[in-house]
Amino acid sequence: MYWTEEALEKSLEKIRRNIENIGERFPHVAPGGVYNDQGPYFWVSGFWPGLLWLLYQETEDNEALRLARKLEDDLDQVLDGFMTIHHDVGFMWLPSAVIDYKVTGNEKSRIRGLKAASHLAGRFNLAGRFIRAWNDEVKPDSQGWAIIDCMMNLPLLFWASREYDDPRFKHIAIAHADTVVKNFIRPDNTACHIVSFDPETGERLESLGGQGQDGDSAWARGQAWAIYGMAIAYRETGKEEYLNASKNIAGYFISHLREDKAPVWDFRAVKDHRWALDTSASACAASGLLELYSLMEDGPDRDFCYDQALAILKGLYDNYFDDSMENQSMIQMGTVHFPAGKNINVPIIYGDFFFTEALVKLKHKPNIF
Ligand code: GLY
Repeated sequence: MYWTEEALEKSLEKIRRNIENIGERFPHVAPGGVYNDQGPYFWVSGFWPGLLWLLYQETEDNEALRLARKLEDDLDQVLDGFMTIHHDVGFMWLPSAVIDYKVTGNEKSRIRGLKAASHLAGRFNLAGRFIRAWNDEVKPDSQGWAIIDCMMNLPLLFWASREYDDPRFKHIAIAHADTVVKNFIRPDNTACHIVSFDPETGERLESLGGQGQDGDSAWARGQAWAIYGMAIAYRETGKEEYLNASKNIAGYFISHLREDKAPVWDFRAVKDHRWALDTSASACAASGLLELYSLMEDGPDRDFCYDQALAILKGLYDNYFDDSMENQSMIQMGTVHFPAGKNINVPIIYGDFFFTEALVKLKHKPNIF
């Protein structure tokens, strides 16, 4: 059996076992091999349902379907509670409700996805042409903040435009992506994590470190969000700027990986901080590279993209995949937030998600979510 098939089989087996282990919880990190319960409000709450949907699509496991639906129902309290909802509604409802609707045609799921998209569209700042990140309760005085991660929420807006047959959601996604190209991506093909704008005038003020080392650094997961998010923005619009942004940042990302193909948490981390890795970033980048590859014209760049995605996944499988069924997680050594000292070198649910998603893409085709 080829290693990608073996890796996918093992991943699916872990998900199957976790139906009981994790059950109706919303996992985030698994230090020591056991996933915690972060609750439905945190931005990662779509990834466990997303893993269940991957299992269901591969095997038609009805328990996976039942549990994914239960978690989707539980997410309604977040949607209905409204006040705490943030920008990350794409991360939460694309791999839960929207995929449910795509796979089963469930109308209730469609409405959930459209509500989430309406919320995201409502966060658009017209003066600065960006989607606002977070809320003041979590990040005080952040009315003018936008973050690179939000590129991964834009597919929800593109999807909503198609569902409504109305371009206004797509217009917001394009305006935000244009702002990112102009204000986040540096001449050296790296992306900032946070850019602060004046929320009244829209003027760009500064770039902030956020989860990266500082305002000038290259936070590994932020680069992965940019590679993947820009590839999808290109898929949805055909705008060459997005294709180039994705390709250029991918070039930087690939050339700064370690020999084992894992990234340090920030490519520009100082020497004393380079012991922390972020495998979730390389899992996400690999899945994004497969998306990018599927959109490129035949030629050496396209082949390079595919080969590198495969090499990254092989590096993850050979060096960071935990085979033991006692360990609930798959991919070890991810880092959530190094500067805050939170969850460093631990398994993270979105590392597992993007790893499995990439393997499914290799087996079938991209454009799953
Ligand atoms: N979206 C937050 C993170 O990447 O940790």
